[in-house]
Formats: sequence, structure tokens, C-alpha cells
Amino acid sequence: MYRIKTLNKISPAGLSVLDQNRFAVSGDVENEDGILVRSADMHDYVFPDALRAVARAGAGTNNIPIDRCSEAGIVVFNTPGANANAVKELAVCALLLASRKITQGVEWVKAQAAAGEDVEKVVEKGKSQFVGPELNGKVLGVIGLGAIGVQVANIATKLGMTVYGYDPFLSVDGALALSRMVHRAMDLETIYKNCDYITVHVPQTAETKGMLNEDAFHMMKGGVRILNLARGGLVNDDDMLAALDSGKVACYVTDFPNAKIMGGRNVVAIPHLGASTPESEENCAVMAAQQLRDYLENGNIVNS
Ligand code: MLT
Repeated sequence: MYRIKTLNKISPAGLSVLDQNRFAVSGDVENEDGILVRSADMHDYVFPDALRAVARAGAGTNNIPIDRCSEAGIVVFNTPGANANAVKELAVCALLLASRKITQGVEWVKAQAAAGEDVEKVVEKGKSQFVGPELNGKVLGVIGLGAIGVQVANIATKLGMTVYGYDPFLSVDGALALSRMVHRAMDLETIYKNCDYITVHVPQTAETKGMLNEDAFHMMKGGVRILNLARGGLVNDDDMLAALDSGKVACYVTDFPNAKIMGGRNVVAIPHLGASTPESEENCAVMAAQQLRDYLENGNIVNS
């Protein structure tokens, strides 16, 4: 019997992959053979002797101490692509949130209603107070053209945007395949200098950490709108707050609120909902559980 510890709530569809006759799965098992985790921070986690694999039900692995796992011979799995559709849909929403002052308007209407204001007057005032630009005709920079970035680029073109794309790992074939949706494959500097909207879809690594910083903002157009549904650490928060205060950045939509950024001017902070759809939770949990099962039972390694 393999012992699997869950460090977060895992979709029942994922748990059903692990046959109860062969796997004991719970948040309480000890000396576990495998771990199923979503966003729990494992950096201080004490590995039990039996631990052989960690499966992350999600794409990012920066909550897992990869180096320590490697040293201890523990295999780490993740589920790239399994939640790409959910994140893509939230990115489209974020584009609109960055433009149309929807969250500000909704909060204001609630406050007006609580104060007993006349509805007609509320609508009249709100219409002129919460004006925001259309996406049609604007330029979007997509940094990272993986499973999510490509889909965001595709939809943005359908909304009438010109899309500039950047990905350091994009092959010539990949660029050709994308050429119908990404109007031009660019270097970062060209993206920073030319885009009205910038969305990041890269993992957080030593190279990408803090990439959206003062130097990057300096190159950007005044009033640029920035979306981050990838990882909070891609952005230098102090530099972002300064850029928001100066108006260089008109709006920052982030799926990674923290104490510093969430109160910032023109910040729309979402409580990490990118993958929070039943479909995506199920896809990720099933894929992670299958990886764990196949590795523990047969030594098969897929996507580690
Ligand atoms: C991811 O990395 O794919 C997400 O953080 C998944 C999640 O929200 O749990």
C-alpha cells in the first residue's frame, strides 16, 4: 500500500485515480511515498524517508524546493497545459478589467446602493466616471508563448488587437505556426516600447524573477496596462507601485495579491483564480495523480 499525502484540497476526480486498495490518500498520512500538492509552500517541508515523488496539480513549481528534491532523489511532476484554458479565459477577463474599470464601477455601485442613492443618478454619474479604452486597435505584448500565451494571443487578435509575441524558447517552426496569430515575434525591448498592454505567461525562474522592474517600465509607453496571471515574483512590487503612482502604468491586474501590492493605486488584485474552475481543477488533479501512480507503481516518468 502506497501512502499519499495531500497538502491541499485535491479534486475528487484526481483522488479517484488512486485505487483505495493500493493507495492510502489523506492529509494526515505519515512517512508518505508521494505528495499531491497545489499551492502549499513546501520550501520548509521536512522530507520523510519514504518520499519518492511530489506531484503538483498545476503548472508552476516554485512552491516546491526542486533542488532539495533532486538532491534527495525525489521526482517532481507538474501538469503543464492542464489548466491552460482556465488561465486563458481569466487573461481575457483581465484584459477587459485592465481597460474598462469594471471592478471600480462595481464597487462604487455597491457603495452607492448602501448609501441609498437614486439608481438613475448612480447610472448617470457612473457612466462618465468609469470610462476606459477599447481593446480593438491596440497593441498587446505577450511574453511567453507556451500553452497559455498562444491562446491569449489568438483571442486577442479576434478582439481586433495587434499582438507582439516574445518567447526565448520559440523555435523557427513554432514561430511559423504562430504567425497567423502573433503578428510579429519581438525581442523584449521592442515589446516594452510599443505595447499598450503587456501580459506575462512565463514561469518564475532565476532569469525571470523581477523582470518587470524599473528598467522595463522605463522603456514602456506611458499608460501601459500590465497583466500578470503567471507568478507574482515576475514583477518588482516596489517598482510597480512607483510606476502606478507616476501613471507610467495605468493599471496592473495581478492574480497574485500580497500585502504590498493589493492596496496600490489602480491595482486590480484577483485571489489567484487563474486555475479555479472545476474543469481545470479536475484536469490538473487527474494528471498529477496519474503521474504519481505510474511512477510509484511502475517507475514511469512523464513530465517531471
Ligand atoms: C498553476 O501553477 O498552474 C496554478 O498556480 C495552479 C493553482 O492555482 O493551483
